[in-house]
Amino acid sequence: MNKKEFIKRRKNLAEVMGENSIAILPAATVKGRNRDVEHSFRQDSDFFYLSGFAEPDAVLVIIPGREHGESILFCRERNPEKEMWDGDILGPERAIESLGFDDAFPFSDIDEILPGMIEGTDKVYYAIGLNAQFDAQVMEWVNVIRSKVRSGAHPPGEFVALEHALHELRLFKSTAEIKVMAKAAEISAAGHIKAMQRCTGGLFEYHLESALISHFMDNGARFTAYPSIVGAGDNSCVLHYIDNHHELKNGDLVLIDAGCELDCYASDITRTFPVSGVFSAEQKALYEIVLEAQLAAIEAVRPGNHWNHPHEAAVRVITAGLLGLGILKGELESLIEKESYKPFYMHRTGHWLGLDVHDVGEYKVGGEWRVLESGMALTVEPGIYISKNAKGVAKKWKGIGIRIEDDVVVTAKGHKVLSAGVPKTVEDIEALMAKG
Ligand code: GLY
Ligand code: MN
Ligand code: MN
Repeated sequence: MNKKEFIKRRKNLAEVMGENSIAILPAATVKGRNRDVEHSFRQDSDFFYLSGFAEPDAVLVIIPGREHGESILFCRERNPEKEMWDGDILGPERAIESLGFDDAFPFSDIDEILPGMIEGTDKVYYAIGLNAQFDAQVMEWVNVIRSKVRSGAHPPGEFVALEHALHELRLFKSTAEIKVMAKAAEISAAGHIKAMQRCTGGLFEYHLESALISHFMDNGARFTAYPSIVGAGDNSCVLHYIDNHHELKNGDLVLIDAGCELDCYASDITRTFPVSGVFSAEQKALYEIVLEAQLAAIEAVRPGNHWNHPHEAAVRVITAGLLGLGILKGELESLIEKESYKPFYMHRTGHWLGLDVHDVGEYKVGGEWRVLESGMALTVEPGIYISKNAKGVAKKWKGIGIRIEDDVVVTAKGHKVLSAGVPKTVEDIEALMAKG
């Protein structure tokens, strides 16, 4: 993504903040995994959205209308010794050049410089309460100013949660963002195809995970957007199953919920298919209901509809389908009203998608479901889960968990499915697996 995109985002935020204010955002920190070993570093999504800067030990500051420039980065200085061990450090000069900051200073100078920048502003925007250490740090900087009031210093009087303004901006994806998300979804879709092709009884769930991850990496996506879920048989009914260490048995379905992260943007796709390559009658009956629900929900994604419309569409099809199979008994409208589907469909039909897999943005505005607008990105992911412990259900339905999930962008006229590259009809899945 080019630096103009990041400059524009910082300008957009500065405009919403208004003058006499300052925003302060810390980079993510490196997390230890075990002795002398660290987790892979992943930049904080808010910080990355505004900066494009991928290193720890950094703070971004935005001061609307500041004479010497509105956007300032504090970051690590270059250090040949450290770089010999850990690789390239961008450093303040190159950060200005490559990411378009107005100013940049060594991180080690922040305590000297930042109180002077806060001084004289009325409002401090930051993510209050998210990180106790950073809360204390901001207060320390403010207290430096408070200690100088007798010399005429003006400490800020208001502390504002930054996320309301910032997350509203993040909710609407730019053309550049949609392009990256489409690429991420394309890579993930092809990874799902590889997993379907590799699938055969006797392998283990993690072999399919390996097919996915290897395809993601081969195609430029080093990381997954979240731990991959590969659950066969009854494991497909465990919504956040990530053990992925059980054997794949012919006769079972396997549910894969996996997506790569590309340039920090997430994709999030689920497909469910038979280990043997052929659906049983019961698996097919339930699968067709979930697919019909998903298509109805995707159809409901268009400007003017509200956030809950796709969910309502999915719930109606799933409830009617379970009623048709005799798994639910009663009258359709009253089953929907009583939420009788919930033992079998216990989650919502989707979430915002972006830098975070469960991306930021309000789902309700003024107490009402948010109206969908062009540029919003979301998942559509209905499912039916009938675990071996389900009560009051005939044995033939048990151990079947199905979810179908795609990534969708709201467009001016309707929607675009970014993850359409992976089959989802019974016929297409069986045909693909028959080829192997
Ligand atoms: N993969 C997480 C989700 O589907 O929400
Ligand atoms: Mn998912
Ligand atoms: Mn999802």
